[in-house]
Amino acid sequence: MQNNEQLLSVIENYLAQTELPAEPERLYAPIGYSLSGGGKRLRPMLVMLACGLFTDDLQQALPAAAAIEMFHNFTLLHDDIMDNAAVRRGKPSVFARWGQNVAILSGDAMLICAYRLLGGVPAHLLPQVMTLFNEMALGVCEGQQYDMDFEHRRKVSVVDYMHMIELKTSVLLAGAATIGATIGGASDEDCRKLRRFALELGLAFQLQDDLLDSYGDAAELGKAIGGDILEGKQTYLMVTAMSRADEATREILRHTYRNDTLSDAEKIAAVKEVYDRLDVRHLTEQQISLRFDRALGILDTLSVDTSRTQQLRAYAESLMGRKK
Ligand code: IPE
Ligand code: IPE
Ligand code: MG
Ligand code: MG
Ligand code: MG
Repeated sequence: MQNNEQLLSVIENYLAQTELPAEPERLYAPIGYSLSGGGKRLRPMLVMLACGLFTDDLQQALPAAAAIEMFHNFTLLHDDIMDNAAVRRGKPSVFARWGQNVAILSGDAMLICAYRLLGGVPAHLLPQVMTLFNEMALGVCEGQQYDMDFEHRRKVSVVDYMHMIELKTSVLLAGAATIGATIGGASDEDCRKLRRFALELGLAFQLQDDLLDSYGDAAELGKAIGGDILEGKQTYLMVTAMSRADEATREILRHTYRNDTLSDAEKIAAVKEVYDRLDVRHLTEQQISLRFDRALGILDTLSVDTSRTQQLRAYAESLMGRKK
């Protein structure tokens, strides 16, 4: 099997071959812009690596890998509207560059392109893969709705929060892993284990995303720092801080983002001051490690030889401590 770097370039080449019409320009140009925008390709890598646990014939997993990356990029177009995010991957988001209507419709077209790519899945596996894909896609929508609902909820528990990110983020990684494994010919039991592996990995991944949103480096991350704070998002940092704060501090956490007398920089600084005081950064890092360890532990229980799990393990480990 190719190494991870080679797999990444196989995925990039396949995605680059996606042919898009030139017209209407404002429908198709944002799709090319998004797809070539420098994403990490985490989800298609999971498809390929999960498939590679069970077979050396990875070619057959490429259409599904591309479909999932297309779907992921579609979710980002709409997510940036919902989160009012102007920067993505170090460039203006589609929503900021072309406006909301273009981001909606190009996003819709990407979802359709994702299904078109899925048509390339080996025919005998397509019904099964389609079911997994649809469950995954609907789960992400559910998570995104909870994410928005939580912006208006006075109290969100850590349990509610973990359920929300399991849906909005983990379910997509789990879909990628199980679809890859299914194409590779995995048993039902190995598929179930890989699903659990990817769910834990996804939790770690989203917690890192939350952490980087407040404590990352904008240039490396390619997103504006403090966006979650300014939007009044319920993140792991926020729900953890709320669970540890006294009532006066909770009021600061609840209201700072809509305090019109403060600049954006002052709002971010005020909330991060509370996070620092309550040791939230450290607690988030602990939870990230815990979820990563759980994920990696599950890999050891697969029915395949450990030499085969090595590459997926190394890839998952490379995500720990990520800066982007
Ligand atoms: C962003 O995903 C959305 C989340 C679930 C946090 P990624 O961080 O994988 O985005 P790209 O594709 O690498 O830009
Ligand atoms: C994104 O979560 C999850 C989906 C797009 C489904 P975030 O809103 O935290 O992702 P970023 O931070 O914008 O990449
Ligand atoms: Mg969001
Ligand atoms: Mg967002
Ligand atoms: Mg985020």
